[in-house]
Amino acid sequence: MPALIRKYSEYLSVTDATPVVTLGEGDTPLLPAPALSRQVGAEVYLKVEGCNPTGSFKDRGMTMAVSKALESGGGAVICASTGNTAASAAAYAARAGQDCLVLLPAGKVAMGKLAQAVLCGAKVVAIKGNFDQALEIVRLLSKQYPVAMVNSLNPYRIEGQTTGAFEIVDQLGASPTYQAMPVGNAGNISAYWAGYQRYHDAGRMKRMPKMLGFQAAGAAPLVLGEPVSDPETIASAIRIGNPAGWRTAIEARDQSGGLIEMVTDEEIVAAYRDLGRQEGVFCEPASAAGVAGMLRLGRQGYFNPGDTIVCILTGHGLKDPETALSVSPEPLALPADSAQVATHFGLER
Ligand code: F0G
Repeated sequence: MPALIRKYSEYLSVTDATPVVTLGEGDTPLLPAPALSRQVGAEVYLKVEGCNPTGSFKDRGMTMAVSKALESGGGAVICASTGNTAASAAAYAARAGQDCLVLLPAGKVAMGKLAQAVLCGAKVVAIKGNFDQALEIVRLLSKQYPVAMVNSLNPYRIEGQTTGAFEIVDQLGASPTYQAMPVGNAGNISAYWAGYQRYHDAGRMKRMPKMLGFQAAGAAPLVLGEPVSDPETIASAIRIGNPAGWRTAIEARDQSGGLIEMVTDEEIVAAYRDLGRQEGVFCEPASAAGVAGMLRLGRQGYFNPGDTIVCILTGHGLKDPETALSVSPEPLALPADSAQVATHFGLER
């Protein structure tokens, strides 16, 4: 298989001279979701981005950003992150032989993501502040020093993430009617919209999908219309109060005739558990925000029977085992005794 950004190079700033840094990203499953389809009365698919090499959609953007950084001479890359960008940047920079500098909001990053970043050799600093403050520092440093910022403010990140839209159209054989997804720093919704536009212009699809973005209620600046100074939600990946992609996300919403709404942490957790229990898919809490929003719209009768809806499950559930355990019953401890185990499970001959 060619690397993702080689496969789609005609739509990207990738030439024969680009030293493509790849870990085998992309080509993630588009999984039919029968239980969710019944609930919303339309055909629902899950784009399982947790199947990327570092377990999130960030790899689509990072292969592009790190390859282009290498093409223009290499040096260190730097990012602020709620976790997944850091994990991805650390892995691709390691692969490219580049240094990776990471700023995280102290104590606010899921364990799996931190483990990935440190294991891959990133130099990690925990900032006593939130993601928005960390990103502000990264913006300054990348202006003042020769380090390449690989947050989604880097246009190559967005370009790489357009491949998610291309893949969905290739896998479905058409564009979906709706796309539902979580929104944090608002890069991914902007990237998907750009991707659909690009594919439409190239004659690869007919109808533009409507973009449905969902923020967590405690971190919903795009819904409130103003920055949130102290964002809070169980979905730590989207705990962001002043998104860098603000303008382009609003454009994606308005140009597509979609919406950006907020969902409560209770709705996020309910969707997170339902995905596991009903579809067998373990995603991280932020990813479930898009599904939670779709379910709410479904209950309101928003969808029609012929509609197709793709939910972007942005990150793998194993990223954040602590949250999974915190919303689940603890396993019962029993002696190593078959009769007691059988009784506990209610087994009958
Ligand atoms: N879902 C997950 C799992 C994420 O990690 C993020 C963002 C989003 C959704 C939101 O995407 O920012 O493009 O709107 N994570 C970033 C990070 C901020 O640092 O890993 P967005």
